[in-house]
Amino acid sequence: MGIMFPEEIIEEIKDRNEITQVISQYIQVKATGATYKALCPFHNEKTPSFIINRQRQSFKCFGCGEGGDVIQFVMKIENLDFMEAVRLLAQRANISLEKLNSSTEFKKEIEKKMLYYEILKKAGKFYYDKLTKQNKPALEYLLKRGLSTKTIKTFGLGYAYNSWNELLRFLTGTGYSIEDLLKCGLILPNKDKTDYYDRFRNRVIFPIFDVRGNVIGFGGRVLDQSLPKYMNSPETEVFSKSNTIYGLNFARRHTVNDQLLLVEGYMDVIALHQHGIKNAVAALGTSFTKGHAQILKKYCKELIICFDGDEAGQKAALRSINILQESDLNCRIIELPNKVDPDDYINQYGKFQFEEQILKAISPIEYKINLTKSKVDLNLPEGKIKFVKALANVLKQIKSPVEREVYIEKIEKEIGVSKEALQAEIYGYRPQEAMTKNQKYSSRNKRDNKYIEAVPLAEQKGHLIAEKQLIKTMLTNEKVLPQLLSKIKVEDFSTEAHQTIVAHIMELHKQGKPIELEKSSGHLAKEIKEINNIDINHINIDKALEAYIVNLKRYKRLYHLKLLREKQDTLLQDKKLNKEEVEKELLKIGLEIMKINTELKRR
Ligand code: CTP
Ligand code: MN
Repeated sequence: MGIMFPEEIIEEIKDRNEITQVISQYIQVKATGATYKALCPFHNEKTPSFIINRQRQSFKCFGCGEGGDVIQFVMKIENLDFMEAVRLLAQRANISLEKLNSSTEFKKEIEKKMLYYEILKKAGKFYYDKLTKQNKPALEYLLKRGLSTKTIKTFGLGYAYNSWNELLRFLTGTGYSIEDLLKCGLILPNKDKTDYYDRFRNRVIFPIFDVRGNVIGFGGRVLDQSLPKYMNSPETEVFSKSNTIYGLNFARRHTVNDQLLLVEGYMDVIALHQHGIKNAVAALGTSFTKGHAQILKKYCKELIICFDGDEAGQKAALRSINILQESDLNCRIIELPNKVDPDDYINQYGKFQFEEQILKAISPIEYKINLTKSKVDLNLPEGKIKFVKALANVLKQIKSPVEREVYIEKIEKEIGVSKEALQAEIYGYRPQEAMTKNQKYSSRNKRDNKYIEAVPLAEQKGHLIAEKQLIKTMLTNEKVLPQLLSKIKVEDFSTEAHQTIVAHIMELHKQGKPIELEKSSGHLAKEIKEINNIDINHINIDKALEAYIVNLKRYKRLYHLKLLREKQDTLLQDKKLNKEEVEKELLKIGLEIMKINTELKRR
């Protein structure tokens, strides 16, 4: 909108929102002498390094570097933009928003928009009622696609009857003018403009919300195979496609590790949310714009792209990657198997597996390498040459020389093209010179550093349960124990507690003693209790055994991956370390991560 609040008002809002009090509403703040300390809400930590300075009315975290004034704190913790944070704080201090909107032109514009929001909300409610109360086939269609009534309600899904003017009659009957309905994009004029008719007919309706949750437009899907599959509201004063991100009103409060997940369709967003992946959003249609990137940048530090696995999806991904790079927003890409879309995938495999896909998401460079690779036949010498040439172009885009070398080594190992050949192609036969030119550490931009890849903690639970089930099996099923022990090693287990317990079981078995764990085993007591409580009765031991063992290795790899990424993070944050050493360490870790990723893929 381009409207800014006057400086005096912002100062007044800050004056009336004491920073310690505001922060205390979100986290526990401890007063130690003159300073106020807390566990930083913006990164994981065990000892507080988040300090509030009351005199300066500012905060600073010495762990992660976040800092600023009360407005910046609210922006960050609530995931709001500046204007929104100011409004929220104004409300908190009982400053009337009227006062904020004192200019008359501004006021008029806002009032008009408010009217459109109101009309669109009424339309949405109208469609929703039709769907839930009156139209069985449409509701059944959505239920059959796996949506719950709760999800339908949350996303306000609806149905537009196969009628020419039902919505028109309803809304004009409520007192809204034809002109305003036209401005909202809900109706269309006939040829000679003597009459009007509803835009959406016989379609399932997806309301489109802005970040604040106002309905600003609709998408409508046919119930069968007919075309066009989707119809959307036109551009209006409140709806701009290239500046709207579907689902952001929900997702912005659910970013995971500062990540949002970008998918293609309405149904993808909704299905993911229903399965608990609540940071999913979509750009409407397939054309991702700079406008989209700018908005997303406000709400996340990294975007995970998960488009359909078909060719159109690949193209869209590539386009989006380039736009994101121009916009300086980090991204990684999920390649779903078998050309499925996220909606199909989550319905088939569930949340846990989807999170694993997020964990395995690859960098733009890896994605481009894979794409390049898929277009040539590496068994033929011409294929290899073509690949190397195309690859050189991709690798040239990497700013960090260390990172580039990591890829070169990876490719050398994978396809047996010598490192020297690749370097020659990239640097034009003068690797030394090119290297030093680029080797300025300062060129390493923290934000586009592929090493900073946050990992969800969720995957931990799954493998810990699997390990516990396995241990329980050892304790309760003597018949399979020898077979089991021959296949696993103590190191296969990921926690020290599990390793200790398994080693103990092995020892007992070796000595021919009964396999039992004493209840009072000190620090292991909690673990043992958990193992005892775990239910394995429903499991067919013989069948599960193989799967366990396969999964155990897999989980261990994932766990290892997580540790490596944490190590990268600490290295990058440790300002005291020598930069060259850091680069060397990072290179090693990078290679290890890639090795694990390849192993994970090979399964
Ligand atoms: N889209 C559109 N107009 C079309 C086709 C698609 O606006 N004619 C947009 C919609 O926002 C749609 C997205 O592009 O959600 C992705 O399209 P597609 O993958 O074809 O649809 P899905 O969302 O997968 O829909 P469904 O699963 O219902 O087929
Ligand atoms: Mn789909």
